[in-house]
Amino acid sequence: MNEADRLVAMQRSDSVRKIVLIGMMGVGKSSAGRRLAERLGLAFVDLDRRIERSCGRTIRDIFESDGEQEFRNMEEAALREVLGDSEPMLIAAGGGIVVRPANRRLLEGADDVVWLRADPEILARRVRAGRDHRPLVDGDPVERLRVLAADRDESYREVATATVDAGERSLDDVVAAVLEVIEHSAQRSTSDRGAGA
Ligand code: S3P
Repeated sequence: MNEADRLVAMQRSDSVRKIVLIGMMGVGKSSAGRRLAERLGLAFVDLDRRIERSCGRTIRDIFESDGEQEFRNMEEAALREVLGDSEPMLIAAGGGIVVRPANRRLLEGADDVVWLRADPEILARRVRAGRDHRPLVDGDPVERLRVLAADRDESYREVATATVDAGERSLDDVVAAVLEVIEHSAQRSTSDRGAGA
């Protein structure tokens, strides 16, 4: 099967319904997610943008006026909403989505949860360009990212159905690697169904 046929087969597969990209800030979830959604013909949801749109405020403003916990409440509500929607979609989640146990349980309901990984030094270079919605890395981004990654890695690992290295790789390579893992999981669930699992 060539790549175009494979994509069509995946789009038709009942198993491709909810794909979630997780991982630290700056790893490229939004750029890769947008491109993947396009390739797969899925709706794309960037959870942070959805939160900002639904309350008409920026993430920085929510953090500064109401605090991180209020942002986490909004984030949990948004995740619950998108995963509860019957529409197939590709979701780019904020880096802290795995912090709450409730979110980790919600993620068990997704078909694929792909963890994009990169070292804090690489992430720091990228977050410098887009720090507006990332108040948690104010100050020394490398150090902040190291601390956050050390706290979160176990939770990312717990919820991920697959892991993709997104370090020193082009966006195209990352997208191709994610497509490959999603394709394998779609094939697995089709054959599980075929076997009556
Ligand atoms: C956060 C990551 C951000 C945004 C918020 C908190 C985090 O999203 O949700 O600043 O806790 O890691 P991105 O991962 O899209 O930058």
